[in-house]
Amino acid sequence: MLFFPSRLALGLVATTSLVAAGPCDIYASGDTPCVAAHSTTRALYDAYTGSLYQVSRASDNTTTDIAPLTAGGVADAAAQDTFCAGTTCSIAIIFDQSGNGNHLTRAPPGGFDGPAAGGYDNLASATGAPITLNGQKAYGVLIEPGTGYRNDDTVGIATGDEPEGIYEVLDGTNYNGECCFDYGNAETSNTDTGAGHMEAIYFGDSTGWGTGSGSGPWIMADMENGLFSGENATYNAGDPSITFRFVTAIVKGEPNEWAIRGGDATSGPLSTFYNGVRPAGYNPMKKEGAIILGIGGDNSNGAKGTFYEGVMTAGFPSDDTEDKVQANIVAAKYGTSS
Ligand SMILES: *[C@@H]1O[C@H](CO)[C@@H](O)[C@H](O)[C@H]1NC(C)=O
Ligand SMILES: *[C@@H]1O[C@H](CO)[C@@H](O)[C@H](O)[C@H]1NC(C)=O
Repeated sequence: MLFFPSRLALGLVATTSLVAAGPCDIYASGDTPCVAAHSTTRALYDAYTGSLYQVSRASDNTTTDIAPLTAGGVADAAAQDTFCAGTTCSIAIIFDQSGNGNHLTRAPPGGFDGPAAGGYDNLASATGAPITLNGQKAYGVLIEPGTGYRNDDTVGIATGDEPEGIYEVLDGTNYNGECCFDYGNAETSNTDTGAGHMEAIYFGDSTGWGTGSGSGPWIMADMENGLFSGENATYNAGDPSITFRFVTAIVKGEPNEWAIRGGDATSGPLSTFYNGVRPAGYNPMKKEGAIILGIGGDNSNGAKGTFYEGVMTAGFPSDDTEDKVQANIVAAKYGTSS
């Protein structure tokens, strides 16, 4: 958020002098601009008026695009409700708000397809994850096992050892221990091409690779062939179990440095759960630049979770930039719908 000095000079109370800057405006101010921005709940740029997502209805297989109610605002959930009245709708496309065209669509078959073996993954129900933002209704993306979104042909996403930042807001109470409720950078081939070929946020209580303190769920990094909770594979006490309904989760990486951060998306600051060197065998990274949501890099799709918003950046965002993004998320006032 930015203050208008002139208004402060006039002595108006601070709350009336706050100017909303969306998460991607904040990342741009920090010289780490969004190169992909996905949300079904709200615009992630102050000036964004384009489509947020597309729903497809079962009654006649037609589609409609859902936009924010105002520039930079909350999704027009009523438009979805009208279009989907008397039938069911699924989320067919989550549009990229960055202008790079990095839209997410139904994930194709991969090396390990789990419940959707041999075929494309399922689409999410358009009404599976209702919430409110500052009292206004919106819908998140409910990932059931077998559901997944992907883009293997992206623009501007980090490859190789290039730096990047990723955040998402998710439901901290909807998770499992299967692989993998991920959002972030993955293989362009939909197959496991080895250590260091991914850099994505994972959320859940899988104990097959890394774990943190308590019994989970944990925010971890999926760097391929492993979920990492800290410096070393397996247990890292610094990565806490998460108990918030709405969670802000962050993974970021640059040459031989990466970090996990997180917090309550409705209140308070972010904490850093790890910031240090790469695990052995992950320096340099071999990122490929595809984007996944709700699945692993090889399309492992046994996991569940709920996604509300997230971005990927060019460059390694500063903690200060991320802290400002967290303040914006808190101000958006995620809440459960009554
Ligand atoms: C919609 O498309 C699906 C998949 O192609 C098909 O099975 C279904 O019959 C179609 N429904 C209508 C109403 O056309
Ligand atoms: C990680 O493993 C290395 C090598 O075994 C060890 O020296 C280091 O102390 C470990 N770090 C943590 C945080 O446990």
